[in-house]
Order: sequence, then C-alpha cells, then structure tokens
Amino acid sequence: MLVKNEQDLKGIENASRVAKHILKLLADSSLPGVTTEYLDQLCEKEMKAIGAKSAPKMYYNSPCYSFYSVNNCIVHGLPNNKELEKGDILKIDVTPFFEGFISDTACSVIIGGNECNTQAAQMVENAVSSFNKAVKQCKPNQFLNEIGKAIENNTKNGGYFVVKELSGHGVGKAVHEDPSVLNFYEPRDKTKLQNGLVIAIEPMICNRKSDITTKRDGWTIAAKMGSLTAHYEHTVLITDSKPIVLTK
Ligand code: MF3
Ligand code: CO
Ligand code: CO
Repeated sequence: MLVKNEQDLKGIENASRVAKHILKLLADSSLPGVTTEYLDQLCEKEMKAIGAKSAPKMYYNSPCYSFYSVNNCIVHGLPNNKELEKGDILKIDVTPFFEGFISDTACSVIIGGNECNTQAAQMVENAVSSFNKAVKQCKPNQFLNEIGKAIENNTKNGGYFVVKELSGHGVGKAVHEDPSVLNFYEPRDKTKLQNGLVIAIEPMICNRKSDITTKRDGWTIAAKMGSLTAHYEHTVLITDSKPIVLTK
C-alpha cells in the first residue's frame, strides 16, 4: 500500500502493533515440550480477543492462524501435535488483518535458548543483520534492487545462501502486493522506492545450497532434509526522512 494520509498511517501502525504483540507472545511461548498446535490455539485466542483476523485465512483459506516451520522447513509450516525439542529452530510468521489493514512479521526462535544450537543461532543472527542492512537502503528514489543486493551480500559473507524462490512483497491492504522484494540482486529491475510505500522485507536463508519443495500438506515449503533455515521479517514504511520498521 501507499500511505497517503493520517488514517492510512494510523491503520498500518495499529495492525503492525497487533502483529508485533502476537509474534512476541508466540515466540515467548515456544518452549521445549510445547506443540505448534498449542501455539496456534494461543494465536487464535489472542487474535479474537483483540478483534484481529488471520489474513492467510481470509485471503488464502489457510488451515491455521499463523505459520510454524521447524528446522529444514522454511515458511508456511502448518501446526501439528509434535512437541518442540531443545535445539529446534522454529520460524513463526504472523500476518494479522486488523481494522482493514494487514501487517506481516516473522522471526526464528531456537527452542530452549540460543546455547541449545549455536550453529542455528548464528544463522538467525545473519538473517537479522541482512534485514538491518536492507532497511538502510530504504529511502525514496533508491532502487528497490538495493534491498536484495544488501541481503544477498550479507548472506554470502556469512557463508549462507538465500532461498531465491521466496521473496518479500508490498503489504498493507492485501497480504501480497506489488512490488516483489527479492532477497538477491536483480540488476534488470529498475523499480524505485517512494515515500509512503509499505513493504515486507523478509530474508529467508539456508546453511546449504538446496532446492525447495512443497510438502504433501500442500502448504509447508521446505529445504531438503538436513539443511537448516532461518527467516526474519518486518513491515517497513518508506518515508522522506527515515524508514520506519512498523513491527519492531
Ligand atoms: N506471511 C507470509 C509471507 O510472509 C504469507 C502468508 S499467507 C500464505 O509472505 F497463505 F501465503 F501463506
Ligand atoms: Co510473513
Ligand atoms: Co511476508
């Protein structure tokens, strides 16, 4: 979406506050022995209490409120009754619809704490620093592909690989809006950023170069067995002064 007035601004800010709150609730509840089914029940309760809806349910008829992807699963993982174990890397992706606006945020949690899987924790740190470097490129008249360049470079420097098939996107009035926000450098793309544009920037990375597949559930997108993956996502508003990371 393009934020055109005070009403738009308040709308996307409020939806983003909801997204941030629910992601924190789910991340804090992601402990050894907990199931992702339980997490999604928590998510449902909290969304209903707040008066928010699951945008994936509204737009794509998803069977869950948010997504929970473990270890080699990257995104769109469905909740199940398997207990989370110490050292698992869980990616949680929350996309609420609140009072007409949609915000999108995701993070990666090491179950039991970072010391339970230092290798995975390092990868999460790389996804976060890639995001932070991408945000530094967010200003009007900047080329959109500078975002992908920043993410790709930071990922490579850390010894990781971006998942090229998956990207960020415009967001705000629908889940997936233009433009596509690639996680790698596409020199042919001449799109420019502009004041008021709202985008979800979401590096998705892998510790091995691997193909992805959609699991038989029709939703879960995974890298091949054995590779670890991390995801970090925020909704960002481009302004003439500084970019605003609305879900932070
Ligand atoms: N939150 C996801 C994203 O970051 C989108 C979920 S909607 C889905 O793009 F139906 F596509 F899964
Ligand atoms: Co998301
Ligand atoms: Co997104």
